[in-house]
Amino acid sequence: MSERIIIFDTTLRDGEQSPGASMNAGEKLHLALQLEKLGVDVIEAGFPAASEGDFEAVRSIAQKVRHTRIAGLARASKEDIDRAWGAIKEAAHPRIHTFLASSDIHLKYKLKMTREEVINRTVESVRYARSLTDDVEFSTEDGSRSDWDYICRVFEAAIEAGATTINLPDTVGYALPDEFGQMVKYVKDHVPNIHRAVISVHCHNDLGLATANTLAGINAGARQAEVTINGNGERAGNTSLEEIVMALHTRRQYLHLETGIVTQEIYPSSRLVRMITGIPVQPNKAIVGANAFAHEAGIHQDGMLKNPMTYEIMDPEAIGLLHSSLVLGKHSGRHAFKDRLEKMGHSLPEEEINRLFVRFKELADKKKEIVEEDLESMLADELFRTPEIIRLEYLNVISGTVAVPTATVILSIDGEKKQSAGFGVGPIDATYNTIAKMVGTTSRLGRFSVSAITGGMDAQGEVTVRLEENGWTVMGRGTDPDIITAAAKAYVDGLNRLEYRKKHPKLSEHL
Ligand code: KIV
Ligand code: ZN
Repeated sequence: MSERIIIFDTTLRDGEQSPGASMNAGEKLHLALQLEKLGVDVIEAGFPAASEGDFEAVRSIAQKVRHTRIAGLARASKEDIDRAWGAIKEAAHPRIHTFLASSDIHLKYKLKMTREEVINRTVESVRYARSLTDDVEFSTEDGSRSDWDYICRVFEAAIEAGATTINLPDTVGYALPDEFGQMVKYVKDHVPNIHRAVISVHCHNDLGLATANTLAGINAGARQAEVTINGNGERAGNTSLEEIVMALHTRRQYLHLETGIVTQEIYPSSRLVRMITGIPVQPNKAIVGANAFAHEAGIHQDGMLKNPMTYEIMDPEAIGLLHSSLVLGKHSGRHAFKDRLEKMGHSLPEEEINRLFVRFKELADKKKEIVEEDLESMLADELFRTPEIIRLEYLNVISGTVAVPTATVILSIDGEKKQSAGFGVGPIDATYNTIAKMVGTTSRLGRFSVSAITGGMDAQGEVTVRLEENGWTVMGRGTDPDIITAAAKAYVDGLNRLEYRKKHPKLSEHL
């Protein structure tokens, strides 16, 4: 009999702490619903005390997600715990996740507290959280750099106060697999009441060891793994969900462990996170990278043709990576379009379908074969659009080997049409200079990335930009078969998000 590992997904909380990861409340809810479909056991929806925006986003997820457990993060204080509870109390299955540092470095320099004071605060906080709900997780921040006997005392006190899950984080990604596994075993063997709680591990990837450390923790007795899609997260990121789940799945005969993950939803979830956050996935990323199932060497290709098992340890279909199939073309009608969206899991109101159908027809005029990825990208463009103060109405760009790159742009700004032209060192620079001048923005372009949504010469280009202004960072995204138009749409999307951010200063930094 295989034992079950609880998958605790923190893409919406630690994952959102990735530099430049930006999700608004609608995007967070959409992702939470996808995580539910993916079959994660716990969704850490956010840190409600961080901002009004985080609170509202967590609340809306707690109201709408009905099957999966929803966790809200809180520092070990009554105010934070009240805020977290306020946001998650309407969830069908709420969990308060509270944390306090346990390493001497953090106690001395950050908390300025003694070891005894930390234990007292742990007990007070866990006890208070437990008075609100039966499901309380307690984490010792910087756990892996803490004294082992001391951390055992903290965990024992937390469990005595009512914690049902105790989490050992490698907050700074410092641990080595063998050492981390031994630490988990030490906790299991030396905390007298450990049988009353689930042991969890939460690893960061600063040394590229997050997955190895998490597996070592599981081997030593942890039964909850804290993970994020694509490994997004603070600094070098967190343990990636897809790596842990597929390691447990692929080596199940060796490990005798299982998860409740619907593995076929892994790739769609990864694509959704990439699309929403604008954070690209490195091509050689395990499981979900573009090259993860690509075989280049002739000898490998030959083996693959004879039998895929020669060089492929996982079936790409097991993670939901189906070869892009032609789904619709320019003669497809509204009924077929609606039907396909429904098969992809999107039941939308009629007016939304009508708007999307107009876009679909425009795209089908330019691109012969419309595949699922095109539809998904169109959906993301439409569904996650920030209220448009600035709209791109017209763009004409001249460039080439001899011409000075020139852009003519018509924008509608607050309903008023404006026209201008400008130059740049290239066509995108000319477009951006012209738009920036017309809007009068002082924002800085922090990142610009472009990729093709599908293969083929007529593939749509997808551009994501990161804009920075007044200490805020926002992402902008645009798709179009014309890459300059995609770049212009991404820039305008980013500018709209900045405008929205200025009008709602209480929202989270991560919008
Ligand atoms: O890395 C960390 O220590 C955390 C805790 C809040 C669990 O994210
Ligand atoms: Zn973390």
